[in-house]
Amino acid sequence: MIILGIETSCDDTAAAVLCDGSELVSNVVSSQHNIHSQYGGIIPEVAARQHFKAINSVLKKAVEPLENKFRDVDAIAVTNGPGLAGSLLVGVNVAKGLALSIGVPVIGVNHLEGHVYSTWIEHNEIDKNPGFPLLCLIASGAHTDLVLMKDFGSFSLIGRTRDDASGEAFDKGARMLGLGFPGGPEIQKAAINGDAKKRKFTKSKMPGTFDFSFSGIKSALRREIEIESSKGKISSQKISDFAAGYQEGIVDSLVSKTVEAVKEHYANGIIIGGGVASNQLLREEIADKSPVPVFIPRPNLCTDNGAMIAMTGWIKFKEKPSPQWDLDVIPGMKIG
Ligand code: KG4
Ligand code: ZN
Repeated sequence: MIILGIETSCDDTAAAVLCDGSELVSNVVSSQHNIHSQYGGIIPEVAARQHFKAINSVLKKAVEPLENKFRDVDAIAVTNGPGLAGSLLVGVNVAKGLALSIGVPVIGVNHLEGHVYSTWIEHNEIDKNPGFPLLCLIASGAHTDLVLMKDFGSFSLIGRTRDDASGEAFDKGARMLGLGFPGGPEIQKAAINGDAKKRKFTKSKMPGTFDFSFSGIKSALRREIEIESSKGKISSQKISDFAAGYQEGIVDSLVSKTVEAVKEHYANGIIIGGGVASNQLLREEIADKSPVPVFIPRPNLCTDNGAMIAMTGWIKFKEKPSPQWDLDVIPGMKIG
């Protein structure tokens, strides 16, 4: 079965073709980062227009390797939430129109579940080994959720951020440091030359819960930058030290809560998904501290992509193969 996955929930226009839930035939992403970097963040109206402009060519590229192009597609999976309403509408409407014209079913996918199921693209046996329950950390630009996955389609939320998402904290921190957008990769790059010990940021502990908070570390960074800049222009070495300390603080929070949760809930493994999961320090730290096996998709399957939507579509279609012609966008969709 050939599934076309379409993703337009935020600022990446993406489509991918997945064959029989295992062979990734194509994975095309057209990013709007250059446009949004001028503003230091995403402008929803601009994002929707860019999806509209990019979607046709992204779809064509995605089906290019198929012999009969769109006619070889058996089902279309599309993100219908959570995300920016205008952006989601582009993907959902294109998916419905295309599905209708080629005579195949359309399936709505929760973007957050997509980040979890993305792991199955490279590790398609983890439901058997180590098996459920699996503890999932979804860390993206808009979400930081800890979810216990008991089975396919069975998620319960056990923790979430009380304020900023971890990716948002990276993006805002980068903007304060005069680095580019998106902030996560920029901070990671700047941190390579920095010394985290010179700029330690205490993490917020949020005792007694599995919730996160990143507003404290963000305010601490702002304060430190103000103090430093009152002495004159901040050197690039100091920017790197700030970046290293800030990255370490965010990663430390993510890792410690995830490890606590995995023990408390007797999970057999950890899955990390979402753009922040591509962070190298996070990948190293969780591998080092986790008492159970850790599964993280390769970096280009952590950031938004169509492959994760196609994989979720495949899993959902196997469970309940009914088309959803009344599919609508749900910008505030949750997981668990
Ligand atoms: O999952 P994603 O691509 O889009 C959303 O669903 O939001 O995540 C985007 C977020 C951005 O905030 C970006 O700064 C962050 O992921 N990100 C990273 C890295 N790459 C992307 N954060 C830390 N380190 C990275 N290497
Ligand atoms: Zn995402």
